[in-house]
Amino acid sequence: MATLDLNWVRAQFPALAQTVNGQPAIFADGPGGTQVTQRVIDAISSYLTHANANTHGAFLTSARTDQTIEAAHAAMADLLGCDPDEVVFGPNMTSLTFMLSRSIGRDIQPGDEIVLTRLDHDANFSPWKALEERGALIKVVDIDVEDCTLDMDDLRRQLTPRTKLVAVGYASNAVGTINDVAEITRLAHRAGALSFIDAVHYAPHGHIDVRALDCDFLACSPYKFFAPHAGTLYGKREHLRRLHPYKVRPATEELPGRWMTGTQNHEAMAGVTAAIEYLAELGRQVESVVSSPLSLADAEQRTTDNGQRTVDETDARESQYDVSDAASSPSRRQQLLAAMNAIRSYERGLAETLIEGLLEIPGLTFYGISDPARFAWRTPTVSVRIAGHTPRRLAKALGEQGIFTWDGNYYALNLTERLGVEQDGGMLRIGLVHYNTAEEVAQLLEALREIVRGR
Ligand SMILES: Cc1ncc(COP(=O)(O)O)c(C=O)c1O
Repeated sequence: MATLDLNWVRAQFPALAQTVNGQPAIFADGPGGTQVTQRVIDAISSYLTHANANTHGAFLTSARTDQTIEAAHAAMADLLGCDPDEVVFGPNMTSLTFMLSRSIGRDIQPGDEIVLTRLDHDANFSPWKALEERGALIKVVDIDVEDCTLDMDDLRRQLTPRTKLVAVGYASNAVGTINDVAEITRLAHRAGALSFIDAVHYAPHGHIDVRALDCDFLACSPYKFFAPHAGTLYGKREHLRRLHPYKVRPATEELPGRWMTGTQNHEAMAGVTAAIEYLAELGRQVESVVSSPLSLADAEQRTTDNGQRTVDETDARESQYDVSDAASSPSRRQQLLAAMNAIRSYERGLAETLIEGLLEIPGLTFYGISDPARFAWRTPTVSVRIAGHTPRRLAKALGEQGIFTWDGNYYALNLTERLGVEQDGGMLRIGLVHYNTAEEVAQLLEALREIVRGR
């Protein structure tokens, strides 16, 4: 299996060298936003120094701006497995989702149904719930509170011939559960509905293939995958052409421009390309699937209770697909696939150590999947409570030691309400990404144990 050169990885991210009260900072706040590489900082600076302009002008910096935008679309297309004109950029995922819901809402009739979930971030809830104004009926899929997984039977029950849209997260930003979004999309399509996937939390942790998923829309926030603050939306070309965005008259009708209202954050787009280039370089570095394709036989052959293929099998199938027509020099998409497979495998080890350690802490309540045999269905993002300590107090005590975690509901409001923790400060979230180390996990666990011991 591919391994990561953590010394090289960490050296790419200047922010990781920061200290707090003399202690090296530990960034366990990845689900809230990740750090960026020097390459990203340089790309932003270079754009502002050499290319800063508006688009489609008859002069040098404007032409460079057009190239910057084109490159960012191409990079995102490689990350997601689509065409560049199927990628829309915007300020963040929330704004893009509100924009899309307003557009889809134009076709909503009273009594049309929209299926949402209790597991989702509110940015994949409120924009769709707003369509109640158009007479839409909102249905909310429940979770199994034991392990914070979606109740798939409930989801099947909620789908009817009146369902127009199913909006679901690829992975939960609160408890790390990965949803079977390929199966959910299949069920949505069988009911005649569109599928919208919020991949914001999943994107830094695994490979995305929108064609294999067959989803209609998929949103990401680049600042969660080592890029600057921005939002992106994939849409199948047919939908991006058919639907009507609210736009100003002089703006283009061409894709993807018709969805990109106003002037974009061009420097952030330069940074997005640089972040994806970093991931591609990581892919070239790892013992990549390109030189040693991950075969289905090598992949862990876990099956779910109902016999659906597992996430690992999905990865293996996609890597085989991508590798089958590999020329001698792998494409950026193939490099990204190699990187994300390596990240996934590395993060799984971190999650195992973290969760094993957490479960030994007296008075700790763990929310989400804790059985290592099912870790293919989670990211290394965990939420806990510890008896006698509010999440804010824990986060503050950790923060004073330079350990950055999050407390509260992290906008997964339906979930904290369903778990009955909203009124008590929510949960403490520890979210790891591939630049975190086993030593950091050990320090974090020791710090928590000390807080619990009252030191
Ligand atoms: C799962 C998930 N979806 C959506 C969002 C909203 O993204 P943005 O901040 O880009 O609007 C977040 C942000 O934390 C998130 O974690």
